[in-house]
Amino acid sequence: MTTLLTGKSVSYWIDSTHTAAFQPLDQTVTVDVAIVGGGIAGLTTALLLKQAGKTVAVLESEQIAQGASGHTTAKITTLHQLIYADLIKDLGEDKARLYAASNQAALEKIIHLIQAESIDCDFSHQDAYTFAESADQLGAIKDEVDAALRLGLPASFVQQTHLPFPIAGAIKFEHQAQFHVRKYLLHLAHKIVGDGSYVFEQTRVHTASEGDPCCVKTERGEIQAQNVVVTTNLPILDQGLFFAKTFPKRSYIVGARISSERAPAGMFIGAGEGYRSIRTTPYEDGQLLLIGGEGHKVGSRSDTELAYQALEEYGRQRFNIDTFDYRWSSQDVVSFDKLPYIGKLTPINHRIFVATGFSLWGMTNSMVAAMILTDAILGRPNPWASLYDATRATPFLTRTSLEENLDVGRHWLGDRITALQKSSLAEVGKGEGAILTVDGNQIAVYRDPEGKLEIVSATCSHLGCIVNWNSAEKSWDCPCHGARFTTAGKVVCGPAVHDLEQQPS
Ligand SMILES: Cc1cc2nc3c(=O)[nH]c(=O)nc-3n(C[C@H](O)[C@H](O)[C@H](O)COP(=O)(O)OP(=O)(O)OC[C@H]3O[C@@H](n4cnc5c(N)ncnc54)[C@H](O)[C@@H]3O)c2cc1C
Ligand code: FES
Repeated sequence: MTTLLTGKSVSYWIDSTHTAAFQPLDQTVTVDVAIVGGGIAGLTTALLLKQAGKTVAVLESEQIAQGASGHTTAKITTLHQLIYADLIKDLGEDKARLYAASNQAALEKIIHLIQAESIDCDFSHQDAYTFAESADQLGAIKDEVDAALRLGLPASFVQQTHLPFPIAGAIKFEHQAQFHVRKYLLHLAHKIVGDGSYVFEQTRVHTASEGDPCCVKTERGEIQAQNVVVTTNLPILDQGLFFAKTFPKRSYIVGARISSERAPAGMFIGAGEGYRSIRTTPYEDGQLLLIGGEGHKVGSRSDTELAYQALEEYGRQRFNIDTFDYRWSSQDVVSFDKLPYIGKLTPINHRIFVATGFSLWGMTNSMVAAMILTDAILGRPNPWASLYDATRATPFLTRTSLEENLDVGRHWLGDRITALQKSSLAEVGKGEGAILTVDGNQIAVYRDPEGKLEIVSATCSHLGCIVNWNSAEKSWDCPCHGARFTTAGKVVCGPAVHDLEQQPS
């Protein structure tokens, strides 16, 4: 059934906060550490480094806290859907214990930071649940409870929750938390600036090279630094091959006002692939209910409005919602072995570091990254660094990684031959995007609601795959490593750092 989407197409976190408006880079700057990317990973790392006595410069291509971090569900929890039983099975109990301990320490550090700084960010303690709606998922839930308890996490098995529909069972973690992510991040950004440290917005980084000092080249000038940290979600530097060790996953959120009496206490996520993620946040005189899900590999789906429709339908059926106030989507980098990559860019780099692969659990994992990278730059030992080592042997041969990399190959080659969605400009309707082949070149054509055409090359500026149309966001999305571009070809998301080439209309 097709229904008209309601609600504003903007993240509630962005809509309910002011824009930071830090100046672009306009001078040659020298700092101890340059941090590329102003999401939660970059801003948290910058703050910890500044607190440790370093001068830092955060370089953000657009505006801070408006990437994945401005579009998240913002649950701060060590309950990462179902992960611990798999980690024990795949990596052994010692490594699973390190993952649990590092994320627990990160949860506590975020809470401590909010309290120490008195950050006004709609923070509240909540219990977190991963729930099974049907009995066939109960085995996985019970295995997760056993695994989590073995690792010292605050887990229990329950069959009752505050959700307004029955469940077969759930794993519950007590003493978890949630916040308004942008209120938190804007506070962090203002603490970073000053005493020789900076935040620069509208400053896209093109490259960074290692040396003494390192040199970071941006579209507006250079920065020199003893160390560089790349936190652009997927690293913009290709040397570490992170684009081949991960895949970009896009998912969707809708928000609807709900009275405080009807708002379910707790933070919830379903078990299995077709999960729904549910939480509330204070909103006007009641609460805003957030429902997330419908995840898919970036660029693998054009009819993205259907994702919102599916979430709205769930809200109608399960929560009796009539109207929706918000809808938004974003993407995060999923690591094939479930562990983020945190540390040196490559084995031969000693001054350039990365943090990526948070696999949709970046609130705590970004704090883990910030703690590890701060210790690395200060030359201090860190008990978790080896677990997340960004240069670790990568499971190129797992089923998922083989499938994803074969998929990239298929897109690189196959889309050149088969992606002829329309054969002439006249066939592209108002508000539609399509790929056309003209003189053997593939072009990405968008006709705006007034009928004006925008035509750019369909060849992704990262490694040359053919981009795909995203109808809900009106963007060109690359199915290979998740770069996204506006209809005018401007980069929205890395790893690409250059726009799509303009084509004559
Ligand atoms: C729908 C959704 C729901 C989620 N829910 C949760 C949750 O409930 N709990 C949880 O723990 N995690 C959740 N996550 C995951 C979490 O939001 C992410 O892991 C985290 O926000 C990633 O942070 P980041 O700093 O790595 O990336 P980002 O926030 O994307 O920051 C990267 C920044 O780098 C900038 N950049 C890119 N290229 C350049 C360049 N060339 N030069 C300069 N800057 C550049 C970008 O503009 C961006 O601002 C969710 C993710 C999604 C998509
Ligand atoms: S993002 Fe890598 S080829 Fe497009």
